[in-house]
Amino acid sequence: MKHLNLKQILIPAVIVLSAACKQEIKEEYTMKREIFGEINGKKVELISMTNNEGNTIKLTNYGATLVWLEVPDKDGNKENITFGYETLEAYLRGDPYFGSVVGRYANRIAGGKFTLDGVEYELAINNPPNTLHGGPGGWHSVVWDIEIIEKEGEEPSVKFTYISPDMEEGYPGEVEAEAVYTWTDENELVIEYKCSTDKKTVLNITNHAYFNLHGAGNGDILDHELMIAAGKFTPVDENLIPTGELRPVEGTPFDFTTPHIIGDRIEADYEQLRLGLGYDHNFVLDNKSEPDAVVYEPESGRVIEMNTDQPGVQFYCGNFLNGLEKGHGGKIYEYRSGLCLETQHFPDSPNKPEFPTTVLEPGKPFTSKTVYKFSVK
Ligand code: GLA
Repeated sequence: MKHLNLKQILIPAVIVLSAACKQEIKEEYTMKREIFGEINGKKVELISMTNNEGNTIKLTNYGATLVWLEVPDKDGNKENITFGYETLEAYLRGDPYFGSVVGRYANRIAGGKFTLDGVEYELAINNPPNTLHGGPGGWHSVVWDIEIIEKEGEEPSVKFTYISPDMEEGYPGEVEAEAVYTWTDENELVIEYKCSTDKKTVLNITNHAYFNLHGAGNGDILDHELMIAAGKFTPVDENLIPTGELRPVEGTPFDFTTPHIIGDRIEADYEQLRLGLGYDHNFVLDNKSEPDAVVYEPESGRVIEMNTDQPGVQFYCGNFLNGLEKGHGGKIYEYRSGLCLETQHFPDSPNKPEFPTTVLEPGKPFTSKTVYKFSVK
């Protein structure tokens, strides 16, 4: 599908002129839709979007999932840097969170219970003793509807929508959820969410993409350098539930306010690293300046700059990966071979009145935006 804009109309002429002068050929923005499979009579598609730099991402409406993201290294070699599978069957059998949207409540709710206006709600326990990422039938595992949004003079977007029924997985209220992906010519993956409810409920929505800047399946991420603009993090108990404390990162292995190599302090003698089995914690973003986080891998030169309007980010470094998952090209996703920057509200907020609220009320839709920008240096 073409993205008709002035730029595109002008591009053929630009190619001819600039190819001769600058050896710089810009490609046209393209979108391709293919059938990926079917679940309970609903079509699942694979949508590929190639920007004017010739870099491709692939999405599927199963779990509103990012399947593939291919960007060049500093020498121009393109490689997929996000975890994903080649078939829908593999998604159904494999790690349910590779690249997917997670909801209705991302991360953990302690004991799978919370109280709203005096009523206690019980959720399915899928990460004993807690509920993780919405529950076993969370939004990562449902087929979303697809709408392509064409915008004059801009890149197209893919809008996934899902109506989550009242009491689905135990949560009150029918929620209409939207996750809109845009892949820009500047190699930015823009993800925008909008959710509204007909009854008071709780909501925390994110994307669970794993990245490895060497290329997905090419070794671990311990040599990646990370900056997170977060002066505090939320320490956890032995069940990975925040204790409620907002602990300053200063003087701890959690201080990424200046760039640090991930592997440098991951084995440090620090209780929170033992409890998390490494880094698997919510960082309290300063939200004062941009970017909120930067990942850099010196060998490839690839960089991710992340910006969000959310109060937190879960930095998870693949501590639960065990080499059993085979993704694109049969590559194995080993222990600590991918990192996630899941932008979010804090885990277990429904049971922590001191945390920013995750209550969603009728007539007050939740909106948020996260941008991952890919470049080289
Ligand atoms: C999040 C959690 C982790 C783990 C992964 C999925 O990052 O914080 O503990 O559950 O999702 O494996």
